[in-house]
Amino acid sequence: MDAYRIVGGKKLEGIIEIGGAKNAALPILCATLIEKGTYILRNVPALKDIKTLSKVLEKLGLEVENLDKNTLKVVNKGLASIEATYDLVKTMRASFTVMGPIIAHEKRAKVSLPGGCAIGARPVDLHLKGFEALGCVIQIHHGYVEANATELKGAKIVLDFPSVGATENIVMAAVKAKGQTILENAAIEPEVEDLCNFLVSMGAKIEGIGTSKIIIDGVETLTPGEYNIIPDRIEAGTYLVLSILSEGKVKVKGAIREHMDSYLAKLEEMGAVIKEEGDLMWIETSVKELKPVRVKTMPHPGFPTDLQAQIMTLMSIVKGTSEIKETIFENRFMHVPEFNRMGADITIKHGVAQVNGGLPLTGAEVMASDLRAGAALVLAGLVAEGETILNRIYHVDRGYDQLEKKLNSVGAQIERIKLEA
Ligand code: EPZ
Repeated sequence: MDAYRIVGGKKLEGIIEIGGAKNAALPILCATLIEKGTYILRNVPALKDIKTLSKVLEKLGLEVENLDKNTLKVVNKGLASIEATYDLVKTMRASFTVMGPIIAHEKRAKVSLPGGCAIGARPVDLHLKGFEALGCVIQIHHGYVEANATELKGAKIVLDFPSVGATENIVMAAVKAKGQTILENAAIEPEVEDLCNFLVSMGAKIEGIGTSKIIIDGVETLTPGEYNIIPDRIEAGTYLVLSILSEGKVKVKGAIREHMDSYLAKLEEMGAVIKEEGDLMWIETSVKELKPVRVKTMPHPGFPTDLQAQIMTLMSIVKGTSEIKETIFENRFMHVPEFNRMGADITIKHGVAQVNGGLPLTGAEVMASDLRAGAALVLAGLVAEGETILNRIYHVDRGYDQLEKKLNSVGAQIERIKLEA
């Protein structure tokens, strides 16, 4: 089990390059299951989740090869299996989005129900309702979901909740269905948009991309090709906190500002001044100039739940009482007791985290509960006085490409240590 040893209080300066978006690369990789042919995917982040999903695709019969660290070549000569087994899906629930593409290719699929995870039960009922609407008969037994359709027919589907994964799975199942599919209350995250743009680049007919009403006209075949994944807005948002901690000496390179509007608006509400020059973004405002703020996580374009823990780091060192209401996941405050071990003063009342900010943070032994909490605790360790040991960093490895290398390159002192199992 690896851990990070972080020595806080170092002077940070330099440029951190943002990688490709994990949550765009994963569904786009799944989409290579839909059609035979050769795909070249560029700006793919080198993450554990990408490796895990590549293994799932290989088990299904695809060949996945790294042309270089961030470029994947996928060859689909047809599926060897329609089954994504528990041993693979349990390690990464996002692999459930292989189900839509397998259905599009074979009109049937058998995929293990993804387990819940630390942040919530993570049901897939909305995905299954979409598949049924397209003509699949769904059966659930022995922990597997089986879908069977004689024919996939376009349908009108209204999601109860703008679920990212359900939107992606249903769009992928519908691109080759007969007729038109209208998906209402669809998720509009930039990563969903990127998947739709990838499918259109292969000849899919999709209107309303980036809106909550997606219209898909099924086509006979798609034509695989090359595609560039968008930059990761969550990685960018994570490192922008460092920019504030370094009073602008750390700059973030390659982020797309309009993917981060709600997050940047919240930082501005705290008093931060966002600076941009070319593809560099930074914030010179110092922590002591910032004011407390209230945040409520919402589906895009609202404040992203994946940046909730990171802004909590900032709130805990900004004088005054801030608040966070987490509305997307039922259990995404497990980083609070870890922050409090570092000297923060955060209490949770009726699902709202109240942060009594401005106290100095001190290094402590803490643990990551999910990848974003882990990243937020790294940020806390960088600003805390003394040494922090962050356990369970396998969570962080899932979503951050070369985190310690990027941080050490701007003057941080963070090293990976092996703890005996
Ligand atoms: C995606 O998860 C992201 N993961 C998550 O990022 C992100 O936090 C989440 O979207 C919200 O933005 C990937 O893209 C791989 P949802 P997903 O379906 O698709 C409920 C990270 O840190 N729901 O939008 O699973 C669900 O329980 C990860 O990179 C149903 O009730 O999110 C949750 O409360 C963490 N039924 C809410 O919707 C369903 O059928 C949001 O889930 C599906 C979802």
